[in-house]
Amino acid sequence: MKNKALFSIIRETCKKKGINGKSDQAFIDRFIGNASLLYYLFSQLYSKREDFNAVFTEMIALIIDTYKERDLVFLNRDEEKQNKGTWFLSHELVGMSLYVDRFAGTLNDMPAKIEYLQDLGVSLVHLMPLFESPEEASDGGYAVSNYKVIDKRLGTIDDLKIFQQSLQEKGMYLMIDMVLNHTSNQHEWAQKARQGNAYYQDFYYTYDDRTIPDQMETSMQEVFPESSPGSFSYDDEMNKWVMSVFHNYQWDLNFTNPQVLKAMLSNIFFYANLGIDILRIDAPAFIWKQMGTSCQNLPEAHTILQFIKVALEIAAPGMAILGEAIVAPKQIMDYFGKGYFTNHECDIAYNATQMALQWDALATTDTRNMIANQHVILQKPLGTTWVNYTRCHDDIGLGFEDYYIEQVGYNPYLHREYLKNYLGGRLVTSPSSGDLFGVNPKTNDARISGTLASLCGLEKAMQKHDEQAIQTSIEKILLMQANSIFLGGIPMIFYGDEFGYTNDYSYLKDPGKSYDNRWMHRPIIDWKKNAKIKQKDTIEHKVFNGLQTLLSIRKRYEIFSDYNNLEWLESHNRAIVGFKRTLNDTCVFCLFNYSPEPQTLTHYVFNSVRNKVKKFTNLMDNASIKIGNDQEHLLFKPYQYFVLFAEFKNH
Ligand code: GLC
Repeated sequence: MKNKALFSIIRETCKKKGINGKSDQAFIDRFIGNASLLYYLFSQLYSKREDFNAVFTEMIALIIDTYKERDLVFLNRDEEKQNKGTWFLSHELVGMSLYVDRFAGTLNDMPAKIEYLQDLGVSLVHLMPLFESPEEASDGGYAVSNYKVIDKRLGTIDDLKIFQQSLQEKGMYLMIDMVLNHTSNQHEWAQKARQGNAYYQDFYYTYDDRTIPDQMETSMQEVFPESSPGSFSYDDEMNKWVMSVFHNYQWDLNFTNPQVLKAMLSNIFFYANLGIDILRIDAPAFIWKQMGTSCQNLPEAHTILQFIKVALEIAAPGMAILGEAIVAPKQIMDYFGKGYFTNHECDIAYNATQMALQWDALATTDTRNMIANQHVILQKPLGTTWVNYTRCHDDIGLGFEDYYIEQVGYNPYLHREYLKNYLGGRLVTSPSSGDLFGVNPKTNDARISGTLASLCGLEKAMQKHDEQAIQTSIEKILLMQANSIFLGGIPMIFYGDEFGYTNDYSYLKDPGKSYDNRWMHRPIIDWKKNAKIKQKDTIEHKVFNGLQTLLSIRKRYEIFSDYNNLEWLESHNRAIVGFKRTLNDTCVFCLFNYSPEPQTLTHYVFNSVRNKVKKFTNLMDNASIKIGNDQEHLLFKPYQYFVLFAEFKNH
């Protein structure tokens, strides 16, 4: 289609749908400005299909309808966000991920929890999957059977709208999930496919026999090798094999069919028009498959995300997208968009590499692997940001490269074995109590489950009634949080971690969950236990209060906004890792001791600002610290960290 023809279709469709007023001009300009790009991306995926032009024209109508149905409140909010610059880079953003039922009960109970969240310092709420999902085969809601109806156990769309409004009134933000790669096998499309409907069978990858599945499996990795081995399942009713990369009840959508992209874009727009601020796109690495490849991170997967991003920039520019790509470090970076598409793909990505590296440092007391990986992480484009976290609802994958492990002098195989044993509950001398998840005997791969507190030693310390060990584990919890809170990006606290929840083993009694030990770190909140956050000297109080302090420091200083203003330091001490944040005529040195022993750091680490700064103030206790002119030392207690703020001298 020539540009002229494209523009006139857009203008005519707008007119036909009554979008031609003065107030619509900004939308029409955005559409015309991005139309060629949208068309280019669509043609990269589907130009060989006969229905190519027809589906693209339907996409145009879908975008216009979405804009037309967008509530005035959200149109104004889009504009407000645009005026703020890149709103999600702000140091004021602090997130919490939580399951509505396990945290509060139902969506109706959520508004009453806002005060608690605000008290902690949370300004962004990530509600774990909300939409209909079969109770016994739900993967925590990541097997969606209806994208537009909220699971009745949690509430209704109206309840969600009320919660969204309550957050917005308080200047807070809302994030939810979009499960893009697959649906539940109970979804209407899958049901129709099972009944033999060929149109809907083409929404999935279905095969009459194992010929293609066998060939494809030779190059695909198993995601859940223990509970759902292989990447295909046999469906009796359909009498066919179907691709199911995750669990056998999660059927992979066939995005080579443009109707699938259109239908999923319509679901995304539905969420945008509920006023969602950040959409977490689940498992984007998997959305395109090709024989002979790992079926992960393929160029077409990026093209689909770019198409979604551009469509959102036109119809609902206020909704940012977070890509949940838990892949190798270099490949994560690609989800921010490359080349011309830099900043035109995911706005936000999980800093999964950094998360795993913090666990590596905690287990080994050696931070060199963390430093070695940073040059990749630092390539993040300006204007995009990270979600930084210590734990989430998933397992911890040790996804960093072997190359850097070797560079710092370890044998990658033995190093990984040590980490798995230390964190995964296999080493008697380790304070951690976690478990291995996704053990694959063929590849020797395994990930780790366990709450932040249990992995930091609190569970074992409490069992032994060892007060000193309890104190140490609290210090470790706060060290892990501090490191991720002061980095560039949005800190995302996992609910329960804010007051030291240890592993919950009750999932073992639930047949819908017992096959998946990730449930051990997804607690059901006991609000009586939570009340202890107000009682001095309790574990709950110490953890909550410590976290609250860290978050309030972050919120006080714009320097913690993510302007790519971070530089890692050479500490000359492998137990201590640190970075410097800079903004205008101020800087902050954040330094973390990952060792159970006291450590020292020479003042050489401050060389870059030595002559500009008179004194530093430790934001943790407001004490002044004077930096000498020689190799004097800064003393660290075990697991201590410093957040040293300085203004530059006036010349
Ligand atoms: C993502 C989710 C995880 C889920 C998987 C399949 O990785 O975070 O919990 O099991 O996708 O949807």
